[in-house]
Amino acid sequence: MLPQIKDALKKLEDKELEKKYLQLITTLLEKGYFPGLEGVPVAKSSISNIDGDKGLLTFRGYPVQELAKHGSYEEICFLLLKGDLPLLEERIELTEDLLDHKELDDSIAETIVSMDDDLHPMHMLSSSILQLQSADAGCFNVENYQHNLNRAVQLIAKFPTILGTYRKQDPNFAEGETFDSLARYILYCFNEELAKQEKWINIFEQLLILHVDHTMNNSTFSVRAVGSSKASIYASIATAVNSLSGPLHGGANERVIKMLEEIGDPENVEAYLEEKINNKEKIMGIGHRVYQTYDPRALYLKENIIPRIFNEQSDVDPELDNLYQIAKKLEKTALDKFADKDIYPNVDFWSGLVMRAMDIEPKYFTTIFALGRVIGWTSHWVENMEVKNKIYRPKQLYDGFNTRHIIREEK
Ligand code: COA
Repeated sequence: MLPQIKDALKKLEDKELEKKYLQLITTLLEKGYFPGLEGVPVAKSSISNIDGDKGLLTFRGYPVQELAKHGSYEEICFLLLKGDLPLLEERIELTEDLLDHKELDDSIAETIVSMDDDLHPMHMLSSSILQLQSADAGCFNVENYQHNLNRAVQLIAKFPTILGTYRKQDPNFAEGETFDSLARYILYCFNEELAKQEKWINIFEQLLILHVDHTMNNSTFSVRAVGSSKASIYASIATAVNSLSGPLHGGANERVIKMLEEIGDPENVEAYLEEKINNKEKIMGIGHRVYQTYDPRALYLKENIIPRIFNEQSDVDPELDNLYQIAKKLEKTALDKFADKDIYPNVDFWSGLVMRAMDIEPKYFTTIFALGRVIGWTSHWVENMEVKNKIYRPKQLYDGFNTRHIIREEK
């Protein structure tokens, strides 16, 4: 059967498509299903695109590196939600809109402060998003594009406030402060001192932009799957936050720093890697489902952001510098060891170090990822409502018992 299919596929003009279809058909014939939905197209989207061989990531056609270098959080928000970069007045209007909607209802802020501070910030974030739903009675009507867009902007605006309120255990943590940009406000929620310094706001804003969207990753797929049942934006985005919290997804950045600390010294890198490989354990911050080359976001951090922190500053904390030396050695050793597998550092490998340099507590690292990604999630939710996608309902391959019956002794 495969030779016939191969002949039919050869007639396709697009050779990339021919390769992809052949891989899918081969998997189906060999396994009968698609583990992890690898390579399976599940939706049409015009928000972002990846060329995994070339290491190219674009948002609405623009390479992510150009957007990180020249764009602002608000501009990228406009670009993703509305399809193109804003004019000056549109950017100003969106910035005002976002800053105007950042406040939480008193009752929600109080609930956040009353939550157990052992709760991981990602799980606090997802449950607080569901709290927002209770203050928005109209959110179950998801058919109006303009209302959907407005809700997306309001939710993006409230994300940092939820996190700032919880982290500072104070509903009025920003009282009396004024902010001219979202990046400054978001950074203020995590480090008030750095939020006064343009250099750090710029680094932080670039970090956020690099995380904004990444095609059909696990959390974005979750948004689209939950949203396909016409669930509210809050229910859909809360699900995405939970998906992102996992160590194989966004949770990796927090674990990268723990791993560097555990290694302790550049001298220990070789032995650490050997042990992990022998135990068939994953090394955090390495590998990616869709890149067969260096993740462009990781490369951008390595080439443009890391040098601004470690090479241009003379007063780098020795403990932090040690982590950087370990990361450099780990990167080099991993690239050598995995040379035959096409495994490279991903964005989480370098982003953890950047956030550590900003004195952000590791348990908040994945929330910073979420603060970028919420723009992508909400854009996908809005897009999904427009394209009238079918409800997601894939098939399973049943491998349980044949039908059987309860046998009970007569009493
Ligand atoms: N450390 C060691 N080996 C790794 C690896 C890692 N981080 N990532 C992939 N591999 C190896 C696997 O062991 C496997 O080898 P094999 O073919 O000899 O069995 C091969 O590479 C393919 O890995 P697989 O797990 O099937 O790829 P995937 O596409 O399902 O997984 C990730 C992608 C991202 C989940 C995976 O690379 C990973 O777990 N990375 C660490 C967590 C992380 O950094 N996540 C953030 C992603 S942005």
